[in-house]
Amino acid sequence: MSAAETRQKKIVINPVTRIEGHAKVTIRMDESGKIDVARMHIVEFRGFERFVRGRLYWEAPTIVQRLCGICPVSHHLCAAKAMDGIVGVDKLTPTAEKMRRLMHYGQTFQSHALHFFHLSSPDLLLGYDADPAIRNVIGIALKHPELAKQAILMRKYGQEVIKATAGKKIHGTGAIPGGINKSLSDEEIAFLKKDVDQMLEWSVASVDLYKKLYMDDIDRLSGLGAFESNFVSLVRKDGALDLYDGFLRAKDADGKIIFDMVKPIDYLKYIREGVRNWSYMKFPFIQSLGQDKGWYRVGPLARVNNCDFIDTPLAEEMRKVFMQLGKGRPVHSTMAYHWARLIEVVHSAEKIKELLDDPDIQGDDLVTMGKRREESVAILEAPRGTLFHHYKVDDNDQITMANLIVSTTNNNEPMNRAITRVAEDHLVGQKITEPLLNLVEVAIRAYDPCLSCATHAIGKMPMKVTLVDAKGKTVDERVKG
Ligand code: MG
Ligand code: NI
Repeated sequence: MSAAETRQKKIVINPVTRIEGHAKVTIRMDESGKIDVARMHIVEFRGFERFVRGRLYWEAPTIVQRLCGICPVSHHLCAAKAMDGIVGVDKLTPTAEKMRRLMHYGQTFQSHALHFFHLSSPDLLLGYDADPAIRNVIGIALKHPELAKQAILMRKYGQEVIKATAGKKIHGTGAIPGGINKSLSDEEIAFLKKDVDQMLEWSVASVDLYKKLYMDDIDRLSGLGAFESNFVSLVRKDGALDLYDGFLRAKDADGKIIFDMVKPIDYLKYIREGVRNWSYMKFPFIQSLGQDKGWYRVGPLARVNNCDFIDTPLAEEMRKVFMQLGKGRPVHSTMAYHWARLIEVVHSAEKIKELLDDPDIQGDDLVTMGKRREESVAILEAPRGTLFHHYKVDDNDQITMANLIVSTTNNNEPMNRAITRVAEDHLVGQKITEPLLNLVEVAIRAYDPCLSCATHAIGKMPMKVTLVDAKGKTVDERVKG
């Protein structure tokens, strides 16, 4: 730590409410009281990579679900995709591929709906400055009962899709190395078809709702926690948005391609995981740009910015409208994440509807096998962003190495940038004000960090905010909750 750093005043916000898990935010000021840098401290769950060592490779898709209580389906599918590689399969049967995609769209649909309606819409619909006691899903239920009902039913629908494809709503076993262990029955298809048009209609309405909220308040929202960055995501071979599979693409802040069509197995040639002495969580960056300039964003905003088009008609129309915000460049606003997220809700609903009409999801050719390999990498676009699973397996079928990069780790540096920007714009004097706290939360929540995935910590604590002067003495302290 430099001498300048030790002189800095600190504001500590701990933890962020309404984010699953537990994080601590430190905002550092310099001697003049100006913001120097903001940091979110997360203890990364590194134990897991050691935990799977020695386990049999076909157990991985079920074991990895324990990694996270919030996004088990993403880990289940990503591990299964990696194990496809271990059993030498590059192409699944049409039934297996489509069942896995259906599971993934169900997961994306329910996760995005939960995130937007339950965790973020209270700020947007009730106001960032509303009393925290009502600035939550209960407040939404009182003021917007119709929307609260939709939120619950959309989430439930996504869970029903997961249940039909994975066998269970939580910790399913549907995906196995080389394929899937079930296809859909007539009853399951009829059950899911019954509500799919309603889901699509509500999804479209949610984009219209957010678009209006954003455009009505564009001066404030476009600048909130905003900054420019590179973007990384998967795209399909033809450049389409693809949440389940594809090749890595990176674009810079102007939208120029940094790398493209990178196969998952080659990810280490392009992406590195940096470390910092003050954080347990790693800082991934684009190798060719180096650690200082190579950090990037992932998730809905990155995906919608990076793709050339979306292959479902309603979401594609919405993408075109959305991209106008960037005026020929990528959209950089932190608060645009929600808009992109809701476009993906529409896309997921369109894909679910399309797949439910596809006779392949009733097929019985479920598994393929090829020649065993010892190393495999799978990349998936999890709801919160790009997820990497890398494994090595020995001749005894035991996993000897696992490296995972979760979406929240990919968005580590961006979240720090967003908090820094909020602090720069909203710190007044040396007081931790309620509006400042709220806006820090709002900015972090736009990235939808999966702290359950990235941390050991479980449960919530009251929020504690401390302002410390240059000598480390507490000047102001606030406890929330
Ligand atoms: Mg790792
Ligand atoms: Ni997670």
